[in-house]
Amino acid sequence: MPTTAHAEELLGLFPPGTTRDGDGMLRVGGVRVDDLAAEYGTPVLVAAEGALRQRARDYREKLAARWPDSQVVFASKAFPCTAVQRVMVSEGLWLDVAGGGEIVTALAAGADPATLVLHGNAKTTEEIELAVRAGVGTVVVDNFDDIDRLEAAVPAGGEQGCLVRVIPGVQASTHAAHATGHEGVKFGLSPPAAREAVARIGASDRLRLDGLHTHVGSQILVADELAAAVAPLAALGEFAVYDLGGGLGARYTYSDCPPTLDEYFDALIGAAREHLPAGARILIEPGRSVVAENAVTVYTVTTIKRGAKTFVAVDGGMGDNLEVALVGQRFEATMADRVGGGETVSVVGRHCETGDVLVDPVDLVGPTVGDLLVVPVTGAYCYTMSNNYNGARRIPVVFAGDGRSRAVVRRETWDELLARDLP
Ligand code: LLP
Repeated sequence: MPTTAHAEELLGLFPPGTTRDGDGMLRVGGVRVDDLAAEYGTPVLVAAEGALRQRARDYREKLAARWPDSQVVFASKAFPCTAVQRVMVSEGLWLDVAGGGEIVTALAAGADPATLVLHGNAKTTEEIELAVRAGVGTVVVDNFDDIDRLEAAVPAGGEQGCLVRVIPGVQASTHAAHATGHEGVKFGLSPPAAREAVARIGASDRLRLDGLHTHVGSQILVADELAAAVAPLAALGEFAVYDLGGGLGARYTYSDCPPTLDEYFDALIGAAREHLPAGARILIEPGRSVVAENAVTVYTVTTIKRGAKTFVAVDGGMGDNLEVALVGQRFEATMADRVGGGETVSVVGRHCETGDVLVDPVDLVGPTVGDLLVVPVTGAYCYTMSNNYNGARRIPVVFAGDGRSRAVVRRETWDELLARDLP
């Protein structure tokens, strides 16, 4: 039987505002999960639009309260669809775009190109030319070839704003694949190389050096590790702009205890007050912590196999959530209308990999073929890394809010699976 304490704990992982109807069915954004499944099919990624907007606003207001000349730049890569980018733009955020594709979707989302910050450790000439042509305000220089390509792309009389990405020498305690601040990482330049890049950009009549950038990693649950990158930047001198990156972790499971926005900003801006010039502008680039907790994925149970272990298999998996297979991220799950308690099972996907596990182990109440199962905290990097493994069609994204829903990305079609194949 569902236990009340466990049910409350589980609900705490759902988007703010999630409730349960009298029959136990979850409502996300005010819409019943069974109604969402009936209208859009499963699997479906459901984002609570109001919660998403509120989080973006909280980010902006809490940063501005501590450092008025500041800007929150949403890391588009965490949920790179135009609808999400549009939400962020309408809440006054700038957009971090990694590569040409995210420039294209950001422009389609109505972003002012001057508010785009282009990233990439291996930008191509085509991407740099696209950025310059589109009027992207800031290019984050990651290597010396970026400088050569930019100088070649900017027309005479033009001026491209740049930041130099610095490796701060901070080892963050996160999944190995998510740490980007330590020596030997492929992103950015060591402090001595960064000095050289600063000098080269300073000597260019087509490039304008606005300042420095750093990013310690992703899914970081210790605020001081994020703040530790500030002093190494300050050691490189005084600049007009410091982009302190993203990386704040999300709460995926009961034991995760990410810093609150207040704790995060107290640590980060505390370090900025100590080390950075008072007149500088501060940018931050959160992705995961804006979107992760504000979306859920709804699946249908397709089969249950009982043996040494009970496998509850669903109609999605690593095609729509690669986080588990890629970095071993732990998620939770629940039946859509029976929240909390139950038997211990392994929720697996439909793909041809033993590693295609969504949640293991997890307690579910009376899982039965045809039932709806919900995995919370799927708003970050799940859409991003969705793929066609085993011919899976990429899943739709639905916004739910105020009791209404609308598709913002539709499910891929079989024809689209065939569209690029030549006879
Ligand atoms: N800025 C830069 C330069 C980044 O590379 C990233 C994330 C961010 C900001 C945003 O970080 P966040 O606030 O989302 O932690 N594919 C991975 C995630 C990789 C993160 C990439 N960089 C995954 O499996 O979750």
